[in-house]
Amino acid sequence: MRGGKMARGLLGLRFVSKETIAKILEEAKEMKKILVERRNENILSGKTVVTLFYEPSTRTRVSFEKAAKVLGANTINIETATSSVLKGESLVDTARTIERMGIDLLVLRHSIVGSPQILDRELKVPVVNAGDGINEHPTQALLDMFTMLEKRGRLEGLRVLIVGDIYHSRVARSNIWGLSKMGAEVRVCGPSTLMPSEVGKLGVKVYYKLDEAIRDVDVVMALRIQMERQKSGLFPSIREFTNLYGINKDRLKLAKEDVILMHPGPMNRGIEVDTDSAYCDSSVIEEQVTNGVAIRMALLKLLIRGEILS
Ligand code: CP
Repeated sequence: MRGGKMARGLLGLRFVSKETIAKILEEAKEMKKILVERRNENILSGKTVVTLFYEPSTRTRVSFEKAAKVLGANTINIETATSSVLKGESLVDTARTIERMGIDLLVLRHSIVGSPQILDRELKVPVVNAGDGINEHPTQALLDMFTMLEKRGRLEGLRVLIVGDIYHSRVARSNIWGLSKMGAEVRVCGPSTLMPSEVGKLGVKVYYKLDEAIRDVDVVMALRIQMERQKSGLFPSIREFTNLYGINKDRLKLAKEDVILMHPGPMNRGIEVDTDSAYCDSSVIEEQVTNGVAIRMALLKLLIRGEILS
C-alpha cells in the first residue's frame, strides 16, 4: 500500500505488509535453488524488463538483468548518459516513451526522492524502486533480510545493528521499515551529524558509541560513507570516523559469537570495514550479492504475474 492506494510495483517497504515481505522471502528460497543449480526457466518467457538508472550501480542493475534472464525474460538497459535524457527529456517522458515500446516492468534508480511514485502514477506497468535518493532501496533490504533468514533461520527477535552514515542511507531506511515489521530489534549507530532527526520515531534504538551498540547483536550491517551526497564535511576526518565507527575484528568480538557481518556494497574498504573483517568467516557480504539475484527473481516473477500488490 502507498498512503491508502495500491501500487502495482514495489516502491518501498514503508507501506508493504509483513505478509507481502514474507511471501517475497519465501518465493526467493525457490529462486535460489534455480540459481544454485544454474538452471534457466521460462517462467517469464516473452516478457521484457527495462532497467533505467540515473545513478551508478553494479550489483543492483546487473542482478536485475541476470534475474530476468534466468527466468527467460528479455532485458533492456537504458544508459542515461547516452540517451535522450541528455537532450533534456524528462523522467516521465522518458519512461512513457519506453513503455510504449511494449514492456512488462520498469526498474528505476534515481537521485530524487519519490521518483518511483511519480512513475507509478504515470505508467501502467509495475515500477520497482532500485533506490531513490536517500529514501528507500527496498530490494536491498529484502536481500539483506533473506540473507539473515538463511543464516539465522528467523527475523523475529533478531538483534540487528546498522552502523555508519545512517542519514544518507536508503538501505538503512528500507531495512528499518522491513526488519521492524518482521519483528527484529533494530539498533542504529553513527555520528550525530549522520543520524536523521526523525530516527527515534522509527522504533529503533539509537547509539552514538559503537562499543555499546555492538554488544550482543546477531547482525552487524556496516554502511558506506556516501561522500557524493555530502556538501560539506559532516565529521572531522575519515580517520576519525574509522577510529570511532569502523568495523574491525576486535569490535566484532563484542557482538554475539556467531555474529554475521553484512555490507550492502560498494565497500570503502579500510574506512567503514577493514579488510580482515570484510573477508572473515563471519562475513556474508559476498553471499548478499548472490542473494540479490534470488530476491530480484522472486520479485520479477511475482510482480509480472500479478501475484503481489504492495
Ligand atoms: N548495494 C547497491 O545498491 O549496490 P550498487 O550501487 O552497486 O547497485
